[in-house]
Amino acid sequence: MSEQAILSKKFLEVNGLHIHFPTDMGMLKAVNGIDFIVERGKTLGIVGESGCGKSVTSKALIGLNPKEFQTTGEIFLYDEEENKTNLLDYHPTSKQMRMIRGKKISMIFQEPMTAFSPLYTIGNQIMEVILLHQTKNKKEAKQLAINMLEKVGISNAEGRFHQYPHEFSGGMRQRAMIAMALSCNPELLIADEPTTALDVTIQAQVLELMKKLQADFKMSILFITHDLGIVAEMCDDVAVMYLGQIVEKAPVRDIFKNPKHPYTKGLLHSIPTLGQKNERLASIEGTVPLAINMPEMCGFYDRCSERIEGVCNQAYPAPISMTENHSVRCFLYDGKTEGRDGNG
Ligand SMILES: Nc1ncnc2c1ncn2[C@@H]1O[C@H](COP(=O)(O)OP(=O)(O)OP(=O)(O)O)[C@@H](O)[C@H]1O
Ligand SMILES: [Mg+2]
Repeated sequence: MSEQAILSKKFLEVNGLHIHFPTDMGMLKAVNGIDFIVERGKTLGIVGESGCGKSVTSKALIGLNPKEFQTTGEIFLYDEEENKTNLLDYHPTSKQMRMIRGKKISMIFQEPMTAFSPLYTIGNQIMEVILLHQTKNKKEAKQLAINMLEKVGISNAEGRFHQYPHEFSGGMRQRAMIAMALSCNPELLIADEPTTALDVTIQAQVLELMKKLQADFKMSILFITHDLGIVAEMCDDVAVMYLGQIVEKAPVRDIFKNPKHPYTKGLLHSIPTLGQKNERLASIEGTVPLAINMPEMCGFYDRCSERIEGVCNQAYPAPISMTENHSVRCFLYDGKTEGRDGNG
């Protein structure tokens, strides 16, 4: 490379991602053509109600969905010189993919038990990950594992190091998983509802730790949450998901100041008032339909207070650019703005 090596702004780019899988009731179209970019050193939030496809999407990025899930589209990983690789070209169990998981991309799972084997101590499992991905000897790896456990607020970390997952409480397992995910300084951290199970003080501590590591190592974060307070605090950009699609995408300030999609507006109205922490987003009337045999129309139609009959129930809304960085999939804005970007 020349002296002025290109520092790619993009780290991960998802184009036209679809995830469909067979169920007893028919093909479930969990994710239907989503596009987003996670920039280097930045945080993208994904918000949306339960079942909209957040976890399925995040697991697809590192090849961790069950085999029968059909995943199509592109998931590009960029290096600093802007060379890109499509992660969907790798087999989920290939050596390349295993190196990417852990070293380049780490994930904090919604269910902490999935991250640990019940057969080995917590300390050993964190140490293994460090030894696999970093040039450290056993003693250094053990010390780093203990430091990380301390950083996520586990007291007596040296003693706890030797305990098995079942000897940890749910909240402690969650923190241990966060310690494991962060111990290798991943370039991208996928955090799927990472702090929902934690009490407020520990939550604040963990969020601070993520921010610090982000600043120190230019780590990117894909932050999945239903807590819009956390979005405001942590994210640069937000993608609002509904029924397997991104219905609105914008810088965090625009989402809060100038929401466009009726669903986004509904989410903002459902923010719990102070003191009612961890309430699910549930105050929009109606429930999310199941994505099986969905007719070709806006998925939010039945619940939308601003729907236009004969329009919104006739076709899927395409993404419309409101500004350079703000796009929305909604017929209310059809024809009101110039230039569709065609890629949500
Ligand atoms: N292993 C699976 N087998 C069958 N259906 C699944 C499986 N995993 C997810 N689903 C279904 O796929 C859809 C998307 O699920 P996903 O877990 O991505 O939702 P989510 O947005 O993460 O929700 P939550 O906020 O509750 O975590 C849902 O309808 C869910 O029931
Ligand atoms: Mg989930």
